[in-house]
Amino acid sequence: MSDTPHQAHIIVIGNEKGGTGKSTIAMHLAVKLLNEGFSVATMDFDGRQSSLTKYVQNRKNFCAANGLHLGIPEHYVVKPAADYARIPEDLNRIHDLILDIRGRYDAIIIDTPGSKNYLFEAAHQYADTLITPMTDSLVDMGALADIDFADARVKAPGHYADFVWETKKQLAARGKSFLNWIVCGNKISATRSRNKEFIFEQLEKIGKLYGFRFCPGLKDRVIYRELFLEGLTVLDMNLPGLNRRMTTSHLAAKMEIKNLAEFICP
Ligand SMILES: Nc1ncnc2c1ncn2[C@@H]1O[C@H](COP(=O)(O)OP(=O)(O)OP(=O)(O)O)[C@@H](O)[C@H]1O
Ligand SMILES: [Mg+2]
Repeated sequence: MSDTPHQAHIIVIGNEKGGTGKSTIAMHLAVKLLNEGFSVATMDFDGRQSSLTKYVQNRKNFCAANGLHLGIPEHYVVKPAADYARIPEDLNRIHDLILDIRGRYDAIIIDTPGSKNYLFEAAHQYADTLITPMTDSLVDMGALADIDFADARVKAPGHYADFVWETKKQLAARGKSFLNWIVCGNKISATRSRNKEFIFEQLEKIGKLYGFRFCPGLKDRVIYRELFLEGLTVLDMNLPGLNRRMTTSHLAAKMEIKNLAEFICP
């Protein structure tokens, strides 16, 4: 038996680009892992916007109102400090909180804001796995790479790829030589298009340069949008007591979440 104390695997969902689906994926992964029997905590480092916090609260309210016992992650909100002077103290508080809860769960999922601030930076320092949702938009791709579209050459890393590179160096200096970085497609258009093929090819290529694995991920589906107010996920649809009609899109969406969860193990 190992003497090493149990430590939760920490999954950070991050991209220096708003609206790519970080909070949606955080919630779906949390429910997926809970359904698999793991103990899961979620942390909302985007405490100002609080999308994940509201998502979890909506789930609690929906369960209470309908007498349901769905899996709900233990949730922690991290609000930004009121002023600059309090940031060091706040970072110590966050560190102590993570040390305290790390032994209690199998997984901790941290949602981050869509732009860089000290909480965004701090969250990445705890990552064992980093999941970066990426749409099939050439605008969003700029966070990962500056591409010359004339000859499809990668000219330079994007601002987020640069940030992850710096983070990897800091983690390595603290003895953590491997960051399991996954770029996960999200809101991917269902139709075939030259644009989508180009982006997927680029992500495969950039992944080899910058050290991430590319998961095709989640398509653009109304179902991912419409469940927020009830705090539900695509994984809950066929649970007893809900009686929701399962469409082929629901089944395909469930498969997408399963594939993403399986992709986490390198
Ligand atoms: N696969 C998907 N298909 C359709 N809509 C999606 C999908 N994923 C997310 N969305 C929707 O896209 C919007 C942004 O998603 P979400 O809030 O999860 O992104 P975010 O990266 O957390 O944003 P922010 O940077 O503002 O925190 C929401 O309206 C959400 O419901
Ligand atoms: Mg969010």
